[in-house]
Amino acid sequence: MKTVEIIQKYKVYTLSELSEEIKKLFAVAETMLSVAYAPYSNFQVAAALSLEDGTIHKGCNQENASYPLCMCAERVALYSAGAIDPRKKIEKLVIIAKNPEKAIQSPVSPCGACRQVISEFEDKQSAPIEIYLKGETEEIYHLESAKVLLPLSFTGDVL
Ligand code: THU
Repeated sequence: MKTVEIIQKYKVYTLSELSEEIKKLFAVAETMLSVAYAPYSNFQVAAALSLEDGTIHKGCNQENASYPLCMCAERVALYSAGAIDPRKKIEKLVIIAKNPEKAIQSPVSPCGACRQVISEFEDKQSAPIEIYLKGETEEIYHLESAKVLLPLSFTGDVL
């Protein structure tokens, strides 16, 4: 028997410490919060990502009366990039969340399904995607890759 230890690290910033590119992505994501279609949960999530050439794709959550059909903001943005700019690498992804009924005190992490999808985008482009997470406070978490959120991930290698 042996034990394998997995250690993950992330950094904590405030917006003023980050680059103009990241500030711009957060500003774009911020505009997407108000158009989140979330009449059932009232939980607003927005995502904005930058490609290697500076192009930005963005998304917000899209809910449906048939609840399992709801689509997370992260995947709306990622699938937009995958459909419109399939050959350009995604470099950075920012995610923000807002609950109009309860202030979110710490950054909100993507759900398991989104972690899996971000992870596959990384595998597809053979490069990590930097992830920045923010709630309703100044605090921002920076993760170097989706693998930080999803170690030992399932991949297409076994198929
Ligand atoms: N949601 C996202 O958009 N991203 C996540 O990573 C977690 C959850 C959305 C889906 C749904 O519209 C609402 O938040 C509540 O789950």
